[in-house]
Amino acid sequence: MFLVFPDTSTVADYVSSTLINTVKSKPNAVLGAATGGTMEPIYARFIEKTRQLQLDVSRLTTFNLDEYVGLGVDHSQSYAAYMREHLFGHLGFNKARLHLPDGLAESLEEHCRDYSARMQQHGGIDLQLLGVGSNGHIGFNEPGTSFDSRCHVVELSERTRIDNSRFFAEDEMVPGSAITMGMKDITDAREILLVATGENKAPILAKYFESDVTETIPFTVLKRHPRARIILDEAAASLLPASVFQRAAAA
Ligand code: GLP
Repeated sequence: MFLVFPDTSTVADYVSSTLINTVKSKPNAVLGAATGGTMEPIYARFIEKTRQLQLDVSRLTTFNLDEYVGLGVDHSQSYAAYMREHLFGHLGFNKARLHLPDGLAESLEEHCRDYSARMQQHGGIDLQLLGVGSNGHIGFNEPGTSFDSRCHVVELSERTRIDNSRFFAEDEMVPGSAITMGMKDITDAREILLVATGENKAPILAKYFESDVTETIPFTVLKRHPRARIILDEAAASLLPASVFQRAAAA
């Protein structure tokens, strides 16, 4: 269940290879995309390999997990800007197939309903990438979110706003709310890869290991998913008993 690699670069090799294999076997796959520092080396490796192999990504469809309310696509800290900078701007994606929640939507509620519906119309997600917050959130589903939830607007916790403040300028506030895919939207994915790297993720990984499935630690829902894998580097795995994980070599 836990797959542990020596460092972030070997994690990036493994996860990007899994993405490449998905694109090769299903060129019109639907991918669930995540943001955050953890994903940056993964997308960088994916771009490199896609170019080397001259793979066509134009038939892929993507759905992003979340977006800050109030930030438009041109705001440097919007997840739309993140995706352009770290992935979409570098390869031949078809823009019409790239879906992100709209942080400036006029009716957020209506937009959320439409976002979940659009995912279902596309046949659901084949492979969902996930990071994890230091409080166990996935997407922006904070502790206590129902496992049955669909796309919705969420008030961000103090913990999450502090964690994410490192991406914002000193005089800039982290938005107080966000749109996120719901827990059910995420767990409907046919395959899930959750990635965590660095020692600041070690305590929440230890909690995951010790806990039953509980809505107070959102990512424990993955214990119930038939095809969910948790990919860690040594630092994130450092508080887990070695007997529960499989050490993996570079891909
Ligand atoms: C944000 C995102 C999550 C992400 C988490 C971890 O809150 N909404 O989708 O998984 O942060 O981010 P990082 O990879 O930067 O630790």
